[in-house]
Amino acid sequence: MKNREFIHFGKIDSTQEYAKKIAKKSPSGTVVVAEKQTEGRGRFERKWYSQKGGIFFSVILKPQIEPQKIPILTYKMALAVMDTIRKLLSQEPGWSKRYDAALKWPNDVVIVTRNEGRRKRGEQKETRYKKIAGILTESTINKNKVDWVVIGVGININNKIPVSLKNTAVSLCEIISRKNIPLGGILDNIMEIFIKYYNVFPESLTLEKYKKNSIYFSGRVKKIVIDCNGTGYTGQVSGITGDGGLEVMLSEGIKKIFYAGDVVLD
Ligand code: BTN
Repeated sequence: MKNREFIHFGKIDSTQEYAKKIAKKSPSGTVVVAEKQTEGRGRFERKWYSQKGGIFFSVILKPQIEPQKIPILTYKMALAVMDTIRKLLSQEPGWSKRYDAALKWPNDVVIVTRNEGRRKRGEQKETRYKKIAGILTESTINKNKVDWVVIGVGININNKIPVSLKNTAVSLCEIISRKNIPLGGILDNIMEIFIKYYNVFPESLTLEKYKKNSIYFSGRVKKIVIDCNGTGYTGQVSGITGDGGLEVMLSEGIKKIFYAGDVVLD
């Protein structure tokens, strides 16, 4: 993939729905971007708040890969978003590792906040994870061949987080001093890095980097509960499989691999 064609909207229902409609006839690398969405959608048909100030885009891809390798593309996008957010954080005057960006399987980029060294008297040492970006990957497969993949990304940058999500989500403007962060440069940066990962980064390196930057392997996250089709499983993450599954050692002592689900940190 080389050229990127951007289709820009001031307002749209959902860049994802638009991208899916035009996917068949569009070249690989087409990016549909909007300043705001009226019907922004997340995983499991959840609403994605899409007020002006956030970044909302969907990329159309025509990869020649086996369908079971599609999650690796999501990981490449998650890495590109994480790298870009880290770059923005590192430009912050007096930036320390108090804030960092990391990955939360399967599709989230989170801000990691540590209070080490800055604790008030009596305050516990703790690490918090709040979602800053989410990724939604959808595809069409025909006779076991991938027709197209659409990767939709929503990132909280200058937009306000609704009160109901304040405990679990964060916007970049809440943690960096620069206000009204320019959005265009951020999207360009993400796409530049993503294309590099897409074109030259082998699968094994992608999985290695994904794992290295994943919150589960930092030693801080001990126990998780994973909700898969309405059933909750408790355990500890023990690995990422070659096809992108999450390997969990369940409390009962059995290993189980998950390919979808929602993870709650215990
Ligand atoms: C999630 O975390 O559940 C995934 C969120 C994906 C949101 C993006 S915003 C751009 C694109 N258009 C949509 O309607 N959804 C995706």
